[in-house]
Amino acid sequence: ARPDITLRVATDPTATAGAAIAGKSGGDDVPDHMPDLEDIAPLYDAKSENTALKRYKSDYVFSLSKNKQYWNKRATDLITWDNYPFDESSCDGIMTGGFEYGDVAWFPGAKLNVCSNAIDRHVQNGKANDIAMIWEGDEPDQVLKFTYADMLRKVSEIANALKSQGVRKGDVVTIYMPMIPQLPMTMLACMRLGAVHSVVFAGFSSEALSSRIAASKSSVVVTADVGMRGGKTIPLKKIVDDAIGKHACKDIVKKVLVYERERSIVPDGNIATDGNAKCSGNTPQINWFPDRDVNMNDILPKQRPYCPPESMDAEDASFILYTSGSTGQPKGLVHTTGGYALYAAHTIQTTFDLQPNDIFACVADCGWITGHTYVVYGPLLSGGTTVIFESTPMYPDAGRYWDMVQRHKITLFYTAPTAVRSLIRFGDDIPKKYDLSSLRILGSVGEPINPAAWSWYYHAVGEGKCTIVDTYWQTETGGHIITNIPGVTPMKPGSCTLPLYGIDCIVLDPMTGKIIEGNDVEGVLAIRRPWPGMARTCLDDHERYLATYFRPYKGYYFTGDAVRRDKDGYYFITGRVDDVLNVSGHRIGTAEVESALVKHPSVAQAAVVGRPHVIKGEAIVAFATLTESNTEEDDELVKELRTLVRGEIGPFAAPDIICITPLLPMTRSGKIMRRVLRKISAGEADQLGDVSTLADPSVVDTLIALVGRYD
Ligand code: PRX
Repeated sequence: ARPDITLRVATDPTATAGAAIAGKSGGDDVPDHMPDLEDIAPLYDAKSENTALKRYKSDYVFSLSKNKQYWNKRATDLITWDNYPFDESSCDGIMTGGFEYGDVAWFPGAKLNVCSNAIDRHVQNGKANDIAMIWEGDEPDQVLKFTYADMLRKVSEIANALKSQGVRKGDVVTIYMPMIPQLPMTMLACMRLGAVHSVVFAGFSSEALSSRIAASKSSVVVTADVGMRGGKTIPLKKIVDDAIGKHACKDIVKKVLVYERERSIVPDGNIATDGNAKCSGNTPQINWFPDRDVNMNDILPKQRPYCPPESMDAEDASFILYTSGSTGQPKGLVHTTGGYALYAAHTIQTTFDLQPNDIFACVADCGWITGHTYVVYGPLLSGGTTVIFESTPMYPDAGRYWDMVQRHKITLFYTAPTAVRSLIRFGDDIPKKYDLSSLRILGSVGEPINPAAWSWYYHAVGEGKCTIVDTYWQTETGGHIITNIPGVTPMKPGSCTLPLYGIDCIVLDPMTGKIIEGNDVEGVLAIRRPWPGMARTCLDDHERYLATYFRPYKGYYFTGDAVRRDKDGYYFITGRVDDVLNVSGHRIGTAEVESALVKHPSVAQAAVVGRPHVIKGEAIVAFATLTESNTEEDDELVKELRTLVRGEIGPFAAPDIICITPLLPMTRSGKIMRRVLRKISAGEADQLGDVSTLADPSVVDTLIALVGRYD
């Protein structure tokens, strides 16, 4: 069934003039990659049909018309395969299956290990002493630097420790950890063994963690005693204990492997440190269940510091990542080893032009797809230096990002528009205090970047010299799918610009499902052919995978986003068309919040919508009717409901506004008209459209009055 779609109005880009750039001339070879970046960051103008853009266009056409040849070239350039059984002239068998049954396979039968691609081959290729990872702890003077040789030892030790606890190829390992170096290392250790990691963002509640552990039947959970963020301590081990104690997890978890944060961040003699990584020695008290819990810091020194990597099929599962959909149940998307690794390396090198001397800082948490692809896999598969950031943009003050850029001479910086917007209000003087001259590319991800935030990022942070790459993608896509390419695609503030090579983007009429050709059009965004980085299934629910992505529009992958393609062919994402909210770049299903709310004994029915929010992009507005006739505004109840959502999902999903209402806008057939709630919440009650199917039209005035209290 297609979603009930109301297309939203696109933000209008700020039209700005810019210079045309020079690039290499096009040819019909497989695109070999990056043009010169001498002329960086042009803005789109009438003269923008320049050489570089022309070359992009011919390369793009090539990447689709000779799709297998294109991916074969990228696969052999970027990945070291243990076995690559394809005839490179015909490229037969490189991709099989399709969207109809969702049986897509890339490079089936080829073998590789993602961890050894991310670490060992760089050690073998003369990069042993290059810095692979810079860890920036919660306190700015907590810095550790790991070379590729250090990574090989540390990741091997962890892999052997996991093995000693029974982890084997194909097992699912849940990781619920703070952003300490051992988080990416544990992910890599799983990859080394062929175990499937399922990282759960450490901001999720015990309830959410428990349902994810149960859904993946993960018998091993890796955690830390505590996490630190912005000076606050988060009791992770306690949350894990609570999660495992819940009914859903009964008899599932056999081992909990626990890192002590303080012991884990002490430089151990080999590891370089810039600051003086503090270790108070005061490890917090945690409960210990001797039959189940294992102290990683005790068993690691006993491990052999080399672990042979498991050779995996390109189509073996590499990780699961849960994301919100339009039902209350989060979906466990399953990614592969070969296609995913190729796509991570390919996109980071295309979009960020990652070079060996770059310092790449993606400040996302490893618990989200951005952290998977652009903190861990993309940079390391490319032999780059990646920054792991444990803190927040506000700690100890609003200059934290820029202080970090200055200290580590970061060249490529990647964050979300919500973070940019939260910093703008502290003014231009803050970034001005720091030497930001090392920066060359600034990335944006997670939601459309509004022109005001774009402009601040470009001028105040990038000093007008950096390209801003507006990268559009999803947990499902594995990596960027629409984004500008530095030195190639002229920028337009607010637009993610043009599709990456090999990505066959189309705009569909939401009602008929027909392709809308030409420019200056609006519709829903879909993709017409498979690409290597796409998720292959929903864990244990292939039917849901088909129903969500491939059935709404037969023959196409449906993104769930609405889009406008402007007169120059540039894409502007205008928001989700399903019941998924985007709050501070986090995807939250309205149904998940609703099912949390109705767990309260006083709540009869709940409906959740988003409304525009100046920093978060979208704020959560919840409406609830009560079981008893008491509909008086009740602060205590509202507080309880907020606490309930925090407990069921996590603090980031707590509604901004909770309206207790005598009734909801129901159609005569008993469906909630969310469109009405959305419009009223956004202060657009004058644009309600047709409300003739409402069972009780008087509800509109009641709701307007209720929401009005919060404006
Ligand atoms: O609505 C789009 C929005 O974020 C959704 C994907 O969310 P998630 O799977 O959590 O991944 C976030 C990080 C990739 C998309 O369906 N989105 C992501 N990037 C952009 C965006 N919307 C507009 N512009 C972007 N650059």
